[in-house]
Amino acid sequence: MMVQSCCLSALKKVPEMTLPKRVKIVEVGSRDGLQNEKKIVPAAVKIALINRLSKSGLSAIEVTSFVSPKWVPQMADNVEVLSGITRSPGVSYPVLVPNLKGLEAALAADVKEIAVFASASELFSRNNINCSVAESIDRFAAVIARAKQRQIKVRGYVSCVLGCPYEGEVAPAAVTQVARRLLELGCYEVSLGDTIGVGTPGQAQTLIDTVAEVVPIKQLAVHFHDTYGQALANILAVLERGISVVDSSVAGLGGCPYAADAAGNVASEDLLYMLNGLDIETGVNLEKLIAAGNYITQELGCTSGSKVACAMGYRR
Ligand code: HMG
Ligand code: MG
Repeated sequence: MMVQSCCLSALKKVPEMTLPKRVKIVEVGSRDGLQNEKKIVPAAVKIALINRLSKSGLSAIEVTSFVSPKWVPQMADNVEVLSGITRSPGVSYPVLVPNLKGLEAALAADVKEIAVFASASELFSRNNINCSVAESIDRFAAVIARAKQRQIKVRGYVSCVLGCPYEGEVAPAAVTQVARRLLELGCYEVSLGDTIGVGTPGQAQTLIDTVAEVVPIKQLAVHFHDTYGQALANILAVLERGISVVDSSVAGLGGCPYAADAAGNVASEDLLYMLNGLDIETGVNLEKLIAAGNYITQELGCTSGSKVACAMGYRR
């Protein structure tokens, strides 16, 4: 008895984590996940995946990208995919857009939200979108201005926030500068991407603390690839700092064609399982999400990158 009450009083001294009550999950599997698949995935499979995801309670599903098909052939069926999906009310279906040409094609496909994607590192910018960071910002200024004329919502990404495949370390100040610029230009939110999945929780918190000195935390989201298995730990660390929007990829699909050896994003099923365990609301149904993950892993003939899906018997 004595021991028990002693343990309880010790436990009471542990400071409680301050976590958000609700987290918005931005599902990026059909874009970030599939863009890295070597074999072309039929549009019908992408459509069936997105329709399954739409039924899971997600409120944002990044569908595809309007980039050059010579650079990313897997996304060449963007118009077919967009016209084939059933858009659920209350769900947004953003697409990635690198320039005005991509924007015009997205507008013609009746897109209501786009995402522009800049980098905190020069060499990644050159490899990914064939221009410097400054040039990309000029391009995106024109894209965002035109999108606003058409009442299109614009989300921003900053890549390589915790490391670059070509330059190594990236300073949080460089991330802050690009994030601030994207918000000034009219993005409603900026997602900070650990493109190569190298960051650890302390670094992730320092990054958020630094960026949030200049940018309202409510306009920040996070996007962790899971190359080093740190993604969930990083997410928990930044939730403690006030982040409440998290990108993830069903079945942990993906990577980036211009960041060799980068693994997929944190698996959506694993993220949801953790958030459920913390009593954080998401509005997303775990069983339905797992079913969507099962569908795509079976179509791709691969094992799910989600530990939760595997543990819950995804083969069934
Ligand atoms: P470029 O070659 O410098 O462009 O590419 P260009 O303007 O000189 O045009 C060259 C050709 O591409 C022309 O065709 C254009 O018409 C065409 P050609 O005359 O040779 O027949 N073109 C296009 N076609 C279709 N749609 C377009 C488009 N633009 C030009 N929008 C460009 C510049 C940006 C287009 C190219 O570098 C590109 O498409 N890059 C792909 C970038 C990409 O998709 N990367 C992966 C996504 S980013 C990511 O995964 C990171 C993220 O997840 C966050 C994170 O993890 O950190 C978001
Ligand atoms: Mg990514």
